This record gives sequence, structure tokens and C-alpha cells, in this order.
Amino acid sequence: MTKTILRALAGETLPVPPIWMMRQAGRYLPEYKATRAQAGDFLSLCYNPELAAEVTLQPIRRYGFDGAILFADILLVPQALGNDLWFVTGEGPRLSTITTQAEFDKLGRGEMIHDTLSPIYETVKILRRELPEETTLIGFAGAPWTVATYMIAGRGTKDQGPAHALKAENRPLFEAIIERLTEATIDYLSAQVEAGAEVVKLFDSWAGSLSGEDFRRYALEPARIITQELKARHPGLPVIVFPRQAGQGYVGFHEATGADCVAVDDSVSPEWAAEHVQVSGCVQGNLASSHMVTGGDALVTETLRVVKAFSKGPHIFNLGHGITPDADPENVQLMIDTVREGA
Ligand code: CP3
Repeated sequence: MTKTILRALAGETLPVPPIWMMRQAGRYLPEYKATRAQAGDFLSLCYNPELAAEVTLQPIRRYGFDGAILFADILLVPQALGNDLWFVTGEGPRLSTITTQAEFDKLGRGEMIHDTLSPIYETVKILRRELPEETTLIGFAGAPWTVATYMIAGRGTKDQGPAHALKAENRPLFEAIIERLTEATIDYLSAQVEAGAEVVKLFDSWAGSLSGEDFRRYALEPARIITQELKARHPGLPVIVFPRQAGQGYVGFHEATGADCVAVDDSVSPEWAAEHVQVSGCVQGNLASSHMVTGGDALVTETLRVVKAFSKGPHIFNLGHGITPDADPENVQLMIDTVREGA
């Protein structure tokens, strides 16, 4: 097996960790902005297989990352279930809200998501043809809790207040939303794998706002069900989970879900994560994305620190969260050179 990401996911400790970056196709790259302008708005880019494949390939051509992440968005699943979705420039996503049983009853289920999402599978097929043979193709979806926070609020929120409120006031409805999203996520990721995705990653960006029993029921349990069902349908499929800002909740997440890799954000130190999370399996992370803006000696020092901290076990180098639009593309090159030459 020559693909280094697959080797790390199988539990191998490599002398140089494979590397890719969350949001690696994005607005910090002039070539992304050019293709995005050609497509029109962001959603038109997501649903245009030729152009979505093109922006996925851009960071691979420029930097030679070991992994390519499908270009799409976690909010395409609620859209495929029948939610309205649009993006307001400079502000972010907007959705028609789901806060009542009547609104929930209008949502579709199961197979119908493929009517909307089939262009995404087409993007995956193009990528499998066009990616260099050493590059691993990563499919993804949002985790049910994170996607639910957007569906319930109708937008991004700082503290996920509306979702927490619905959970407190109408738990059966809240749980029905989580269950519907769990089902749809399995079907969506399964279709990505059938189209050629070699690994799938589940993004639970707001897992950190769940605590105690809620964390277990709405972050860990859906991740376990999705991981187990995907592995039953696709034996040997590697799964990466990202319960962002889980803190202590990262401990034991591999065992509890059966995932092959747990991605960690930069609110925990790499030394702590090596001791408490990497002991259970492969980890991905966790350089602060702010270094891609500021660069310099601190970037080099902190990159080497992450590499060293995780050097005794399976590790995929990544940022702690997505790269931001104000990042300097040259700092990305410096990070990659430091990982590959300085390790
Ligand atoms: O990582 C990648 O390069 C793959 C593609 C990808 C995108 N979004 C493209 C995107 C992935 C994996 C996502 C995940 C995603 N989307 C998450 C979870 C991960 C995280 O970052 O926490 C969330 C919460 C979303 C929802 C979303 N999409 C928001 C809140 C926004 C607006 C924020 C912003 O930066 O404007 C998006 C838009 C979005 N998704 C962009 C990209 C490249 C920017 C859109 C543009 O070109 O204008």
C-alpha cells in the first residue's frame, strides 16, 4: 500500500506523517477564487462536478498534499432533505428552520437525498480518475448534532443556543431530527464510498458544546452508529471522526465509536493528545490555523512540536480547524516543508 494516509489509518507509525489540511480548497488560494467566480455562488460550485473537482485538485497540484478532500459542504444534507439553503456573502449560511413537528414532517427521508446529491457523487468519480495515485480521496459529511444546530437555528450560532433550547423543550422532536440526520448521513457517505471515496470523515464542529450525558447521546452515539453501519456496508473502510473541542471527551472516542482515527483541534496540546488519545489509535491534527496567517519562526517551531509529540504512533498531520481566508499560501508551503524535511 503506497498511500500514506491509508497506512497511518491502518495503524502504521510513519517516519514522516502524511499531511492534508481542512478547507485546503478555499478562499486563501487565488485559483480557488477564480474558479468560484466562474461558478457564480458557492452552492453552484458545490453542485458543478467539473468545477468542484477542479477546486479539489488545485491544492494537490500546488502543494502535493497526501490527501484530497472532496469539495462540498456539510449543509447539503439538510438541503437534500428539503430544507431551503442559501449563503449570504460575508455572513454565512441560512436555512429554513426546523423547530416544530409540522416543519419536521415536511422533510423527506432515505433514498430521496440522492436526487439532490448525485452531482457530488459525480465529483467523487472524476476525482478518482484524476488524482495522482499516491493521493487519498477523503469524503465527508457533517455529524448529526452539528448539522442539526444549523437546521434548528437557520444559521450559524456562537453557542448553539436554539438547538440546546429545542433539546430542553421538545426532546422527542430534537431526537427525531438527530435520527433522521443519522440515517441520511449513512446513505450519503455510503454513496460517496460507492463512487470512489477511500476514507470518510465526520465533522462534528460543535461537539464541544455538548457535555456529560448529552455528549454521549448526541455526539458519541451517532458517530458510533454511522461508523459501524458504514463498516458493515463497506468492510475495511477507514473512518475519521472530529468531535471538535471535545476536550476530555476525546479520551476513549476511538474505542467507543470504532473509528480508525480521531481528529483533534488545537484547544488541546499535542503532548496531551499523544498521551491520552493517540494511545487508542491514529490521531489527526492539530496545528493552530492562525500560524497560516502569521507564519515565521513560530510556525516552524509549533509545526515541529506537533510532529514530535505524535511521532511515536500513527499520525496524520493537519490543522486544528480549517484554514482561514486571510492565510498566506506561502505559509502553507513552509508548514509542508517543515513537516517533510524537518521531521
Ligand atoms: O475542507 C475542505 O476544503 C472541503 C470542503 C468543505 C467546506 N466546508 C467548503 C466550504 C468542508 C469539509 C466544509 C465543512 C463545513 N461546512 C463545516 C464543518 C467544518 C468546520 O469548518 O467547522 C461547517 C460548519 C460548514 C458550514 C459552512 N460552510 C459555513 C459556516 C460556511 C461559511 C463560513 C465562511 O467561511 O464563509 C460555509 C461555506 C464554505 N464551505 C466555504 C468553503 C470553501 C466558503 C464559501 C465561499 O467560497 O464563499
